[in-house]
Amino acid sequence: MEKKFPEGFYWGSATASYQVEGGIENNDWAKAAREGKVPPCGRACDFWNRYESDFEMARTELGHNCHRISLEWARIEPEEGQFDDEAIKHYLDMLAEMRRLRLKPFITVWHFTLPQWFADKGGFEHPDSPEIFARYCGYVAKKLGNDCRHFATINEPIVFASAGWLSGQWPPFKRFSLMNSIQLAGDRRDHHDKTSFWNFFTYLHVRRNLARAHNLAYDAMRKTAFGLEIGIVHNIVLFHSDGNPLNRLFAAFMNWFWTHSFIKKVYRKCDSIGVNYYIHKKFGDTKTYAKTDMGWDVYPEGLCDALLMVKKYGLPLWVAEAGVADADDDMRADYIKRLINCMHFAMQKGADVRGYMYWSLLDNYEWAQGFEKRFGLVEVNFETQERKIRPSAYVYKQIIEQNGLIDPVRSPSQQ
Ligand code: BGC
Repeated sequence: MEKKFPEGFYWGSATASYQVEGGIENNDWAKAAREGKVPPCGRACDFWNRYESDFEMARTELGHNCHRISLEWARIEPEEGQFDDEAIKHYLDMLAEMRRLRLKPFITVWHFTLPQWFADKGGFEHPDSPEIFARYCGYVAKKLGNDCRHFATINEPIVFASAGWLSGQWPPFKRFSLMNSIQLAGDRRDHHDKTSFWNFFTYLHVRRNLARAHNLAYDAMRKTAFGLEIGIVHNIVLFHSDGNPLNRLFAAFMNWFWTHSFIKKVYRKCDSIGVNYYIHKKFGDTKTYAKTDMGWDVYPEGLCDALLMVKKYGLPLWVAEAGVADADDDMRADYIKRLINCMHFAMQKGADVRGYMYWSLLDNYEWAQGFEKRFGLVEVNFETQERKIRPSAYVYKQIIEQNGLIDPVRSPSQQ
């Protein structure tokens, strides 16, 4: 059975600055690592120095036609209001390399890590944080807007706010006292030294500031550069139910709280929405699922409902991240096929999906979990920086070459 995608569909993978670049010391995560609150990131994948060979591998060996990177705010604006031309030049070099390889760039302007000066001011708790963020985004658009068309302002605002102010696993490690069982971003829960009931209200305040930050950033970017497509990247946790009316109500409320109440505030200032999908929660479910190395249910099928959930905003969509932590690489190929199958189904039902970026090209720094969890199409030896392409990456390559799923997609052992 043929499942073809439209001509010009984007196929690629994603990375994020702090998780791969290495050598970043002036942000809030590096400080938290020095204080022993999260694992150190160190050289990570040394992508800052190895991007040329990594892009080359993505394009020529793995067949990708696009790549999503993010920018490190702490490199570009190391002190408040002072911008570093060298850092911009380095990112311009990355974009030039992508152009040379015909790897379409997608830039996320900010992916979780804050410059230390901004974190010291209170980060997104600060009343002026939206304006400060918009100034940074406007600057970036002015400098990089001629070399890249696709931008997202913020990666996963709700994950960022939830992990920082509800579960307290990420900087600034504030924890809402009633959230004892929440586990959104990892296992480390021993540093939530600032547990309080009031953190819930700070969390709501941070969410509001993030929405304003996006909206102001959109205007600032539009003003400084012409012809950009600017959006936001949202992680959809799919809440669904066994059909029991009460469970249905829970699911509807959670989808509203996690997704719609935020997207409603920003979609008018979006040219597209990037969807990240990893996790579902089915109320009343008694089924047991196979687990990924993150301990998450193997349920790639949730991507379909996730895409259909945001179809109503009438914007082009792209899957900015979906993938699996699977060190043995024994489930990744099947997981990717199932994701792509679901994406195709969602498109048949009217979701205007333009591309898919597997998370991630490389094994990398998985935040509070350190380097142990392996999402990469490419295995990285963090001692030697050696790269080794996993068999599943070739299955994905074949799908890209066929621009769709044409059975039988050969299994990794047949490659
Ligand atoms: C984030 C990535 C992260 C991935 C896997 C997403 O929420 O954007 O930075 O590595 O999930 O946990």
